[in-house]
Amino acid sequence: MTNVAVIGSQWGDEGKGKIVDWLSEKADVIVRFQGGHNAGHTLVIDGKTYKLSLLPSGVVRKGKISIIGNGVVIDPEALLEEIERVKTMGVDISPKNLVIAENAALILPVHSQLDKAAEAARGESKIGTTGRGIGPAYEDKVGRRAIRVCDLSDKDILKERVDALLFHHNALRKGLGAEPLNAKDVLAFLDKVAPKILPFVQPAWLLLDKLNREGKRILFEGAQGVMLDDDHGTYPYVTSSNTVTGSAFTGSGLKVGSIGYVLGITKAYTTRVGSGPFPTEQDNEVGEGLGARGHEFGTVTKRKRRCGWFDAVMVRQAVKIAGINGIALTKLDVLDGMKELKICVGYEYAGKQYDYFPASIKAQANVKPIYETFPGWSESTSGARSYRDLPANAIKYIRRIEELLEVPADILSTSPERDDTILIKDPFSR
Ligand code: IMP
Repeated sequence: MTNVAVIGSQWGDEGKGKIVDWLSEKADVIVRFQGGHNAGHTLVIDGKTYKLSLLPSGVVRKGKISIIGNGVVIDPEALLEEIERVKTMGVDISPKNLVIAENAALILPVHSQLDKAAEAARGESKIGTTGRGIGPAYEDKVGRRAIRVCDLSDKDILKERVDALLFHHNALRKGLGAEPLNAKDVLAFLDKVAPKILPFVQPAWLLLDKLNREGKRILFEGAQGVMLDDDHGTYPYVTSSNTVTGSAFTGSGLKVGSIGYVLGITKAYTTRVGSGPFPTEQDNEVGEGLGARGHEFGTVTKRKRRCGWFDAVMVRQAVKIAGINGIALTKLDVLDGMKELKICVGYEYAGKQYDYFPASIKAQANVKPIYETFPGWSESTSGARSYRDLPANAIKYIRRIEELLEVPADILSTSPERDDTILIKDPFSR
């Protein structure tokens, strides 16, 4: 089994773009299976920077098939804009290399309007969403009133579906003091996007089954991270999808057991955008330094990311829940020049010690990290391509992370450049 899944092991923004691009060169098929255009994957190839949100990262490489699976929520306007933007950079995108699952749910303008209105209504306790309508679109999907990609091909069905959707949303809008929506306007919008989307649409699960049986190498590209998972993350400060590996099966329709190796992308420190608990956050010069050196600004919303020490308790939890076999440790070079480093190895809360992250909101907000302290290194690790290029203290830091996570660091990334990577084990060669 050579198929690989790439999963963020923290709160997203672990540097998945570079690693996914690096792996997608070896893959034949690249699949997105959850989330939507709340994701932001930055790829740097031959000096060109591509910023992708909804398109699978394989799309920028020739000869690959990219699939947007049924678990993704698709904003058709955002998708078409992204396709056009990437095409102007010289990338060929056609139904030959991009497939959209016929059973994926759509994000409509009503969803982003509701996302923003709900955030405004939450006031101080806002989640800090990306405002892209992700949560409301998934709510409609689970509530069985979503409009799906396949509905675009049948005007009668589409009319019924829009009526069912507006029955719900107009009641909600009334409560929020917003103008009701008119079915005609929503249908006109869908009519406009349908002919541009439909050529890409297929039963993606069927294609995936065929490609898998042919022995094609499939790469599952996770978005966000385990701590933003709707069940396992810092609920309610999470995204509205399951970001763990299990989602790759439900979100693509490929059978359970079709993934041979799960790579957890793990930043050498911790960051988070949006609100919610963050036990190892450093709201001080340490955090400021990490943010400045690591260019920690959100790809999608440009928000400043919160920064802190590496939390081994949380990542170990992610490793276990997502079945991570090995990690790709990213942005080690951001730690260069720091006098000392800390790793969280446990928590204290209400007089008890914890070796896991408890689920209650109160506990998550109030756990006190127990740290181990390590000497830093003054040498630069930026651009290192072998363990021999790393200072002894950096190696000690990595080894301790491996011990605490109970999985090896199979890949180390030492700069945004794709070749600045130390490969211990190739995820595809198992
Ligand atoms: P939503 O996914 O827009 O509903 O946002 C919910 C939470 O997930 C917010 O805290 C966002 O900042 C966070 N989030 C969503 N997508 C990403 C991502 O790709 N990287 C990091 N955080 C994300």
